[in-house]
Amino acid sequence: MPELAADVSTSRSAEVSAAVPAHHTTMIRLWDLPLRLFHWLLVCAVTAAIVSAKVGGEWMVWHGRAGLAIVGLLAFRLTWGVVGSTTARFAHFAPRPSSLRAYFKGQWQGIGHNPVGALSVFLLLGLLAAQALTGLLSNDDIDFNGPWFAMIDKDFSDRIAGWHHTLSNLLLALLGLHVAAILFYLIAKKNNLILPMLTGWKKVDARPKVATKPAGWRALAVSLLIAALAVFAAKTDWSASSLSAPAQQHAVQGVTQ
Ligand code: HEM
Ligand code: HEM
Repeated sequence: MPELAADVSTSRSAEVSAAVPAHHTTMIRLWDLPLRLFHWLLVCAVTAAIVSAKVGGEWMVWHGRAGLAIVGLLAFRLTWGVVGSTTARFAHFAPRPSSLRAYFKGQWQGIGHNPVGALSVFLLLGLLAAQALTGLLSNDDIDFNGPWFAMIDKDFSDRIAGWHHTLSNLLLALLGLHVAAILFYLIAKKNNLILPMLTGWKKVDARPKVATKPAGWRALAVSLLIAALAVFAAKTDWSASSLSAPAQQHAVQGVTQ
């Protein structure tokens, strides 16, 4: 299944790169297709969520839909971070004191998210998760409620909507920083990070020290299943009144028959 491969990856390609002299550069498959699709779909969904919330009114329905799409994408990414190809795994890029020290001394030689970039990835994913979770419980005081609104009382939902608002400003700031950092790498460091996020391929110094492994279809199926379950859980009103409604209806039907 070549498209899912993160490459340098297979032992065969690791052998090939080991045969290349160290001063040469080589192309590696850095980001697998599911991770790239995740990223660009997330960009679309977050843009849609922010624009629809700013327009408001009838557009809040689309805000809810974009929000649910983000829930699914985040659930997919969390699973893919455990079962996906090597460079997509959290354990691969989680920063350690030693990797951070090496990075600040200019000696970090890994592939994928660098240790500081990785910190911002975790922050971004965490902030998006908090944004989505608070959204599910929020209300706009007019006619749009998150699907979990009925599970809590109105005062609490109002407080959570305040957090949702504050978080959205933090998120906008972090996204500004995200794009600025990527442009800084592009212009000042002459390191194009955008192209690998589009094509999957990156030019690196030969003989990367990390052997990477691609993910299989089973990993993809599990990640998609968990994403679907997360969307189902997020769009369901789990409040006692809503869950008992069909049972009551049934009881009424039973009485009238
Ligand atoms: C709503 C806007 C955006 C969001 C929510 C977002 C989110 C993210 C996230 C979560 C990651 C980590 C990928 C992973 O899961 O491993 C990431 C990485 C990345 N993003 Fe974005 N992004 C946004 C906009 C952009 C834009 C506009 C660009 C292009 C200019 C961009 C370029 C990249 C690149 C190149 C990386 C990989 C960085 C690296 O090599 O370490 N992103 N983004
Ligand atoms: C992670 C994705 C999300 C982003 C970036 C986001 C962003 C925003 C923004 C910018 C606002 C306007 C805040 C303001 O200016 O007062 C807003 C309001 C709102 N959002 Fe979200 N949201 C997200 C997810 C969700 C989800 C999943 C839901 C529920 C389905 C939701 C429900 C609401 C509600 C009910 C409001 C109105 C709150 C109010 O008027 O005080 N949001 N959101």
